Amino acid sequence: MTIAKPDVRPARPWFSSGPTAKRPGYSLGALPQELLGRGIRAPEVVERFAHGLRRTREVLQVPDSHVLLYTPGSDTGAVEAALWGMLGQRPVQVVAFENFGLTWLADVKDHLGLEPEALTAPWGDLPDLSNVDWSKDVVFPWNGTTSGVRVPNADWIADDREGLAICDATSAAFAMPLPYDKLDVVTFSFQKALGGEAGIGVMVLSPRAVERLDTYRPDRPIPKVLRITDGKGFDRALADGVAMNTFSILTIEDWIDALDWADGVGGLEELIRRTDANYAALGDWVARTPWIDFLPERHEVRSTTSVCLKFTDARIDALDDKAKKAFVTRFKALLEGEGAVFDMEPHRNAPPGLRLWCGCTVETADVVAATPWLEWAFETAASELAA
Ligand SMILES: Cc1ncc(COP(=O)(O)O)c(C=O)c1O
Repeated sequence: MTIAKPDVRPARPWFSSGPTAKRPGYSLGALPQELLGRGIRAPEVVERFAHGLRRTREVLQVPDSHVLLYTPGSDTGAVEAALWGMLGQRPVQVVAFENFGLTWLADVKDHLGLEPEALTAPWGDLPDLSNVDWSKDVVFPWNGTTSGVRVPNADWIADDREGLAICDATSAAFAMPLPYDKLDVVTFSFQKALGGEAGIGVMVLSPRAVERLDTYRPDRPIPKVLRITDGKGFDRALADGVAMNTFSILTIEDWIDALDWADGVGGLEELIRRTDANYAALGDWVARTPWIDFLPERHEVRSTTSVCLKFTDARIDALDDKAKKAFVTRFKALLEGEGAVFDMEPHRNAPPGLRLWCGCTVETADVVAATPWLEWAFETAASELAA
């Protein structure tokens, strides 16, 4: 079966899971430029960075008890600064159910040389969180961007935990509520939910995380770009916007622009509402489309941002893995050749299927407009298989 090519394209055909779509109305030329070319230690520049942290706190609704800081190396830098700087005092569990949890597991095991307990699950599922032991430090992604699975809530995180809850929240922050009283380290990057530029990560530290940095000296070298301590413990200058090394001022201006937009549209509640609306629009299409389904079977663990879908069509099932990947490549080429939908392929380590970012910088009308194109590209690519 072939179907007619739709005639209306999404106005903003960007569905990548990182970097994600810029905010509606974005203009590079509208960013402030006065500080470009100034020194990273100039008081005006440090103040602008501090302003970015204050705006981040406001939009994310981070309580005053917690501190925020930037790290080099994007979300990976932020997570690894926590792993290198905090782990080793007590046993560690890593919740690893897709690419990034598995990456942190390899860090803890192979690079830090610790002996973490891995709580794993197949792609599309979540490990049994009742096996989490809060006498240990626990590392976990809130939202697994590469499998489209998220933790359903924070009920499994003990209020009286002895270990630290170290949460990679890069594709959850600004899109899902994060209970800061349950989280000791929260990390994310600029280029995820708010569509900022890449390169810089953010850490949100609870008083217990700061205390760990103040009182525990791991017996290991810590590279400068991961070092968030000075001789006395947590380097408090970082929480005042001081950059660890030279960061891009343009990237910070872009971040502040994203935060101002987020605030202007209605703040965190509205960012979550926009995300949920996009997810619901895509979910409606999945429900009425016979050849596609969510990769996660359980409704309550499905991500609302990085929505991962699998094929349920006999023609695709009959293919081996290599041919399935080739099918996705053809599917993507058809969509991008038309300028209709960009970057809808799954992560390279994930099962073949589709992945569409549904975060707040995407417009629901564009999700709706993308779906006939997905149908057209699927049927076109599938009919080529038969030929
Ligand atoms: C859950 C998760 N953790 C970590 C990363 C790595 O982030 P970055 O490229 O910002 O270092 C990603 C990237 O997509 C991610 O989705």
